[in-house]
Amino acid sequence: MTTRNLLEVTNLSVKFPLLKRGLLSKQVGEFTAVDQVSFEVQRGSVLGIVGESGSGKTTLVRAILRAIEPSSGSVLFQGNDGAVDLCQLTHKQLMPLRTQMQMIFQDPFASLNPRMKVADIIAEPLVIHHPEQHLQHRQQVIKMLERVGLEADSLHRFPHAFSGGQRQRIGIARALILNPSLVICDEAVSALDVSVQAQVLNLLADLQEEMNLTYIFVAHDLNVVHHFCERALVMYRGAVVESGPVDQIFTSPQHDYTKLLLSAIPSLDPDIKLAPLDRNSLDLG
Ligand SMILES: Nc1ncnc2c1ncn2[C@@H]1O[C@H](COP(=O)(O)OP(=O)(O)OP(=O)(O)O)[C@@H](O)[C@H]1O
Ligand SMILES: [Mg+2]
Repeated sequence: MTTRNLLEVTNLSVKFPLLKRGLLSKQVGEFTAVDQVSFEVQRGSVLGIVGESGSGKTTLVRAILRAIEPSSGSVLFQGNDGAVDLCQLTHKQLMPLRTQMQMIFQDPFASLNPRMKVADIIAEPLVIHHPEQHLQHRQQVIKMLERVGLEADSLHRFPHAFSGGQRQRIGIARALILNPSLVICDEAVSALDVSVQAQVLNLLADLQEEMNLTYIFVAHDLNVVHHFCERALVMYRGAVVESGPVDQIFTSPQHDYTKLLLSAIPSLDPDIKLAPLDRNSLDLG
């Protein structure tokens, strides 16, 4: 793989068994949730992934991190010790690489343990991966807390005592505490209201520059993708139907499905009339 790329995904597929309902569930077929997906992510860039609900976005990014087992394909990752195919590694071999790839989720409340104090939530990845450095953990957590814009007294509080935007900052602090190179944001700002969304996006952009991060940014909000990403993939039924620089996708979409997605964005300009596409007349093959 070329060194300017952090990630090269080739023909990645994920299939789930289709089970027949009954007392003894029997496999009656397969469902292809991710279908032969290929793309590259340049180091230091932001790649957006868009597509309707169920198009396979989450399954794709989870398969990249091997949180779901891919059925076939390769995921070359430029790790600190050279390029590796994540699909070929055992889970034991993956462990040290996990520090270099992190995920930020949509619903921080669901991903933060409600019984743990913020200090312990953020420190947990350090405790798991660098137990020998335990004397430095506290200082690292305090620094990261400040870096994501949370007050120092947050350390001793529980997740329920924070707003949605603050909880997302806790999730970001936890994801970045190990100093990863690849950060996958799966609908990370989708649950936040617009003003808080902008603040969290600004924070992610600042952190990208400071920490030299590469993002994969999954979102159903195309305006957010247009604003935040340089390139994007459009997914439809598990496959990539279009990819390229976001400006190109937004100004001259090639695939009918992309046109349909774009036609669904509400315009802020009341003089621009929306021209809804008729889904039934499109060739979405
Ligand atoms: N563990 C699983 N077993 C069987 N099918 C699954 C599993 N996980 C996901 N799927 C199916 O795979 C398809 C893709 O789901 P996925 O969650 O990746 O979509 P998505 O694009 O992330 O959608 P959303 O925008 O709603 O988050 C869906 O049809 C879903 O039902
Ligand atoms: Mg999803």
